[in-house]
Amino acid sequence: KQPRITVIGSINMDLVTETPRVPAIGETVLGTGFSTLPGGKGANQAVACARLGAHVTMVGCVGNDGFGAELVQRLQEENVNVDYVEPITHTATGIASIVVENGDNSIIVVPGANHAVTPEKVRQAEAAIKQADVVLLQLEIPLAAVAEAIQIAGKYGVPVVLNPAPATALPAELLAGVAVVTPNEYELAMMLGRTPEQADDFREMMQVYSGSIMMTKGGDGAYYKQKGSNVVHQPGFQVNVVDTTGAGDTCNAALAVMMGRGADMDEAIRYAVAASALSVTKFGAQGGMPTQEEVEQFLGQMKE
Ligand code: RIB
Ligand code: NA
Repeated sequence: KQPRITVIGSINMDLVTETPRVPAIGETVLGTGFSTLPGGKGANQAVACARLGAHVTMVGCVGNDGFGAELVQRLQEENVNVDYVEPITHTATGIASIVVENGDNSIIVVPGANHAVTPEKVRQAEAAIKQADVVLLQLEIPLAAVAEAIQIAGKYGVPVVLNPAPATALPAELLAGVAVVTPNEYELAMMLGRTPEQADDFREMMQVYSGSIMMTKGGDGAYYKQKGSNVVHQPGFQVNVVDTTGAGDTCNAALAVMMGRGADMDEAIRYAVAASALSVTKFGAQGGMPTQEEVEQFLGQMKE
């Protein structure tokens, strides 16, 4: 079955600088590479879902500029339906300034046109929410729009996967409408109104949280808990790390696709961790995002 996923979220151009070392304030270093690559958590998750075999509709905004036109075209090339992607005048397309040092990254996002994804814009996409098997959300668009999407999905009984990134405190009422929330350990702490220092207490926080949760933890894989059950660890898979940008997006997309296929949570999360392991073996957020066949082949090799 080809699951239908509607992604409501950000679309960015990633301006990626590779450097042997991130400079200190006031310092200049020589970088080793620069690329402009399609990104944004929303668009990344949409592309990953499509490669994994889903029928994907993207809801979002770009600027009426070169980056915007290119990003829409790239989404179309990935078989993502862009009927609900709107070019906004007098606003620049969102960008992410990304510095990659030894496969790890730091990111500054300038949302630009992503700010135009308002509750009103989400209401205009009601048909796309209603027809979905799963709605997939992140936090690079206004929180009011995320809340509206959760509310509309709830009206039609469509499960919502919320990737609460970038990290922010979230109202309990908003989380109550989410089927699975997918933070990393820092986002989990922030989401629950704790301090970043409490990220190490993730097991305790996961137990306290009343809903279903998948917590991603980099190369360590994912920890997850179904509502009312205990925390389970799905270890990461050993791979050659080139660029971790987009690993979380791949993990979220794979979870949503597997939920859309009706898989149980154990199977869905093993699949999601495998997909994100493959994603880090290539450069760029979308560069290494695997197809369904690639994930199945990889998991097949893992079996004794
Ligand atoms: O999750 C990775 C993404 O975060 C990048 O593509 C960048 O655009 C930022 O939004
Ligand atoms: Na990658």
